Amino acid sequence: MCLSKVHKAALFLFYNLLIRFPLYSQANTLDCTPRKTVNYEDANLKTFAEQGISNYSTLLLSEEHNLLFVGARDAIFALNIDNVSDSISQEMWAVPEHKRNECMYKGKSRETDCRNYIRILHRLTETRMYICGTNAFHPTCDYMVINSGKIQLEKKPEDSKGKCPFDPTQRYASVMVDGEFYSATANNFLGSEPILLRSLKNNLRTEYETSWLNEPNFVHLDVVQESEGTADGDDDKIYLFFSETAVEFEFYNKLVVSRIARVCKGDLGGQRTLQRKWTSFLKASLICSAPELSFPFNIIQDVFVLRASNWRDNIFFAVFTPQWGIQDISAVCAFSMAKIQEVFNEGKYKSPVTIEQFRIKWVMYSGTVPVPRPGSCINNNIRKSGFKTSLDLPDRTLQFVKDHPLMDDVVTSINSQPKLIKQGTKYTQIAVHRVAAANQKEYDVIFLGTDSGYLHKALSLEREMFIIEEVQMFLPAEPVQNLQLSPKRGQLYVGSSSQVVQVPVAVCTRYINCWDCVLARDPYCAWDKTTSQCVDISKKNSHVLNLVQNVENGDPSECPSHENYKAESRMIIPGNNMLLNCYSTSNLAHMQWLLNRRVIPAADSKYLYLNDGLLIFNVSIADEGQYDCQSVETVAGKPFTQVTASYLLQSSEYKPGIEYPIPTETLPGAKPAISTLPTSPGTNVRVGNLPMTQSYLQTEFTLKGFLVLFVMMFILLLAWNVYKGHVPMPLRPSRNGNTRPPTSLLNNSVQQLEEKTPLPEGPQFQGALSNVDLPLTSITNASPLEKNSNNNSIALENAHSSCARPLFVLDELEYIDADQTDSKA
Ligand SMILES: *[C@@H]1O[C@H](CO)[C@@H](O)[C@H](O)[C@H]1NC(C)=O
Ligand SMILES: *[C@@H]1O[C@H](CO)[C@@H](O)[C@H](O)[C@H]1NC(C)=O
Repeated sequence: MCLSKVHKAALFLFYNLLIRFPLYSQANTLDCTPRKTVNYEDANLKTFAEQGISNYSTLLLSEEHNLLFVGARDAIFALNIDNVSDSISQEMWAVPEHKRNECMYKGKSRETDCRNYIRILHRLTETRMYICGTNAFHPTCDYMVINSGKIQLEKKPEDSKGKCPFDPTQRYASVMVDGEFYSATANNFLGSEPILLRSLKNNLRTEYETSWLNEPNFVHLDVVQESEGTADGDDDKIYLFFSETAVEFEFYNKLVVSRIARVCKGDLGGQRTLQRKWTSFLKASLICSAPELSFPFNIIQDVFVLRASNWRDNIFFAVFTPQWGIQDISAVCAFSMAKIQEVFNEGKYKSPVTIEQFRIKWVMYSGTVPVPRPGSCINNNIRKSGFKTSLDLPDRTLQFVKDHPLMDDVVTSINSQPKLIKQGTKYTQIAVHRVAAANQKEYDVIFLGTDSGYLHKALSLEREMFIIEEVQMFLPAEPVQNLQLSPKRGQLYVGSSSQVVQVPVAVCTRYINCWDCVLARDPYCAWDKTTSQCVDISKKNSHVLNLVQNVENGDPSECPSHENYKAESRMIIPGNNMLLNCYSTSNLAHMQWLLNRRVIPAADSKYLYLNDGLLIFNVSIADEGQYDCQSVETVAGKPFTQVTASYLLQSSEYKPGIEYPIPTETLPGAKPAISTLPTSPGTNVRVGNLPMTQSYLQTEFTLKGFLVLFVMMFILLLAWNVYKGHVPMPLRPSRNGNTRPPTSLLNNSVQQLEEKTPLPEGPQFQGALSNVDLPLTSITNASPLEKNSNNNSIALENAHSSCARPLFVLDELEYIDADQTDSKA
């Protein structure tokens, strides 16, 4: 898509009026920054990939066998569930040459399409599994036996169209319920005939009509045992989640809608009408939209059913992306069982009305609805009226449900708004874990896989969602295709094109001190005061009293009082630049430097605030003193401050016994005891007590000369690189990990400065940089990020904001807009 100037102007207006303003007044924000970023190198994950095998996208957890079954291309693996790197057994299931050729003659790629992508893996019995593959556009199912960890195909392949997709790139869904296999996929080679099929026992299928399924993208199938603990003798239900082209909206373009459909487990089809078809197929729209955004999140990507002990309390969590508007944005919505039941059991139906010769409009049906209610499962009431199974249902009811599968009522999300909106990220997979915190209160932790290979771990609270961390799982980046959770083991299993990765739900040792541990609000972790460690609470319950955790507010005030930082001594080498390191443990914290307990303003041209420390230009004896790096992190609206590094700058060159003066800054109003040379501010070299004055001055000037020379060389180099396009111009927001250990020492040359300066991004840097009186600024100003640099306060606010506070800045939108339009142009 190529946008014209007019379009851009329109988009700009649209963003301004519809997005920017309402966001300022809304509790939701689009930029919910993960508190911690764990880079691939630091993630230390267990992985599995077999030489020559790819597309590890089908996963099945088997706690009973302690195995993770993996369906890949032409192969199935049984991995140790505790260590996926440990492969227990494998079975190959490749496509014979003549079948591959046959597939190729039908116009498919021999190398990619005409392979056997394992798509279905379900447990049938303790020792037998059902398994299907695309088999070179010829879907085939087979059985597989498990014998003490060894897997073996029974080699009784059956043609299985409707059970498994033909096309490996097409989405599908399936579930096995009591030996009956439910599948939602394409029923033909072209992929044009969608079907929801029940097979193996009591075969039933959907009517092939656009009012039932219209170019659907199937996402998830699941069962809810609604017959449990009910007095009305209701049936279990199978729920299907998908998106499809809407039939009910007239639009200049195809509008996609997300749906939830359901069928009854006991459905046996009709006697005459709907013979061997579902008599209980009903669907409703799933709505995930934010009042403040003008576009809906209409494309469902994945679903996770959080099961409660009573099925009525089940929650369906789903991730959505929009069809229009901002593209790299996702939302998480939650749907209650009660709302879903209400819509299907009591909602109105939609009805097609022909308004012109060929135009059909879907409107609310307001006529009389036949009895028994179309689409309902057979319950006690219906049985009492003499209808024992769906085969007994009257034609009127069946004809009605055949013509009116769509409900007029819609399934809205809990609180009618998303739990989370995240800009800059496309979520592909979701899993939810309900965990008890140290105080025994339960919290929902939501794991989200992204299309760039990250795993986000988010805490879901009543009115807020907080992203605890992001873990980089794949390098190079690739989309997360499957995400499975073992609540029992506290492990996540992630499938992608290239490998399987195992990720623990929490690594508490990553939180390095009490503050870090508590501010993280990670329900899995708490600070153990006895051992001074951040511990996994599921492995501790003996000395609960000594645990500090505050999931709700992240308030670290209960932490042992300031872990005292011993100030590190640093020697001043006059004329050099000096870097004092200070690493943030949180993306939401911002750094503040103090000199002798007074804040060093970011605007002071003497200093440069960097992401990993403070750079002092041209140090001199006047810079002596104590430098404290303070981390300020705001959680739930409250700022918390903590010193994370301390340095004592001293000039130790002086011969022992010679007294040198106290820096004037520490003695306001005091006259220097010695005369000073009239040099430029910030470089006051006091020479009175110094031996070898001349040599000192000479060194000073030589160094200054070098400094100027190097800065000029650096500018030329950078300018050349920018001109050549080696330096990407829109600087992307930092993905810098904050878990790396402090490494670098004194930075006393401009060459080292060169390496440092182009890298740092982020608000502190921008804010500080605009005020640095160096030719550097003119270069960096060319970057789009510079737009923020004249407003330090906004930039800073961005850095320590949580998901609960409004912080959307117009400049960001302009930037995103420009970026997008460019990439599409
Ligand atoms: C996991 O299995 C691999 C391969 O067998 C082995 O090298 C590794 O040490 C195991 N890791 C652990 C933590 O047991
Ligand atoms: C299979 O994996 C390859 C890379 O390993 C990827 O390019 C391709 O898109 C994958 N195919 C499917 C159908 O997932």
